[in-house]
This record gives sequence, C-alpha cells and structure tokens, in this order.
Amino acid sequence: MKKKLLNIIQAKDKRPLVCLTAYSKPIAKILDKYCDIVLVGDSLATAMYGMKNTHQVTLNTMIQHGISVKSNLSKALCVVDMPNNTYRNIKEAKKNAKLIFKKTKCDAVKMECNGKNYKIIESVVKAGIPVMGHIGFTPQNYKKFNVHGLLKKDRFKLINEAKNNEKAGVFAIVVECVTKLAAKEITQSLKIPTIGIGASIHCDGQILVTDDMLGLSGFYPRFVKKFVKLKNIIEKGVQKYNKAVLTRKFPSNKNTF
Ligand code: KIV
Repeated sequence: MKKKLLNIIQAKDKRPLVCLTAYSKPIAKILDKYCDIVLVGDSLATAMYGMKNTHQVTLNTMIQHGISVKSNLSKALCVVDMPNNTYRNIKEAKKNAKLIFKKTKCDAVKMECNGKNYKIIESVVKAGIPVMGHIGFTPQNYKKFNVHGLLKKDRFKLINEAKNNEKAGVFAIVVECVTKLAAKEITQSLKIPTIGIGASIHCDGQILVTDDMLGLSGFYPRFVKKFVKLKNIIEKGVQKYNKAVLTRKFPSNKNTF
C-alpha cells in the first residue's frame, strides 16, 4: 500500500483528518499544504456548473478536473469521484475507475454506496485502485437532502453499510449528513477512518465543499460553516473594477505599454 494511503488509515484515533474539495489548479495549490485529502467531488456539478444535482456530470468532466487538481498537488492524497451511472456493474466500474486512475494519476476514487453495490466496490479495490466509500446522504442516490440515522433501525443499517464497505476494502469512508449518535457508532465500529460532512465531531476527519466553506457557492445547509465570506470580497473587487473602467481610471499608465 502507498505510504500516503497508509498515513490516512493510521491517523485513526491519533489525529483528525483535514479534507476539502477542489476542482481547479489555484484551489488545489492552496489546499495541498493544509489537507490530508483533496477530493475532486462530483459536487462540481452544482457548485461550479450550476446543475440542479450531481446526476448528469460526465466521466470526461471529472477526468478533466481531476487532471487539473492532481497535477497541482504534491502532499495531499488526491481522490476523484466516480460520477453517477459509471459503476452500475463490475465491468463498467472497473473500466471507468481504471480510466480515471490512468488519466488523472489520482491516488484513489470515491464510490457512493447504494446499499447493494459492495461487490462492485470490491472489484475496483481488487483491480488495484484504492477506493474511498460514501454512506448516509449520497447525492447520486437521493433527490431530497435529509438527515440519516434518526431511528435505531436506520443507525443499524448505516453501521451495516459501513462495515460492508470496510469488508469490500475501502481505505476510508465519507459519512454525510447523519446524526451525532449514528456518526459515533459508525466510527467506533470501523478500523478505517470516517470522514464526516454534516456528521458531527465524532468522525475521524472532516470534509466540506470548499466553495461552501469559503462562502462562494450560495448553498449553506446547517452543517456548513462559512470560514470566510468570499462572495462579498469578490464583489467588492468587481465593484472597484467596474468603477475604474467607467471613470477611465483603469488602465492607468502603470498598466500600459
Ligand atoms: O462531491 C462531493 O464534493 C462530495 C463531498 C461532499 C464529500 O462527495
């Protein structure tokens, strides 16, 4: 197993894992210094392309963004999401995972669990491609955004899914939008790390969509903390540019040949 992957697994019970998403070169360059994992998430469908969900994003789009991100990371582990309808059976999953892996040179792919696709996930791991799992609210499988694990039977189902992902060979698992108790029970039941998004402090690491935590995306569910309000900062810059052009103050001699 690659050292970077081993470091992620060995962080469990020792230190929290810091993870964020990136879709492009400038963001990847900044995140590399501060993140254990940088995910090229299919959330780029909504955060970047303005689609209404992640269902339509293509393999080619993920590969293009994967290349841009991976080629600008040196320290962080690069994980690329397998988009919707690209891993419906073993043959399709292996073919597409290999393509993502070969073209982007990423360290791993992420596959959402639909409660049934463990053999498919396992086949990709056995083909030599590290996989990060994803349970709870999995945007490729649900239309409505909601909290998972509210009832005891739901928590039991989530723990079962997490354990089946672990058995299938995933090296870590994203746990999205589940209750604090569910996150605690899932995390305690696994040897591999859990990476929470809307899943409390009980996970082994945390991930957010970078555009959300920078206050740029306009999508701020309760679990998103805006660490900076970038939209306001960008708007101020654009306002200044607008004024400078309209008043013929830009370009000045300094900006002219
Ligand atoms: O697509 C994505 O960005 C994700 C994260 C929200 C975990 O799956």
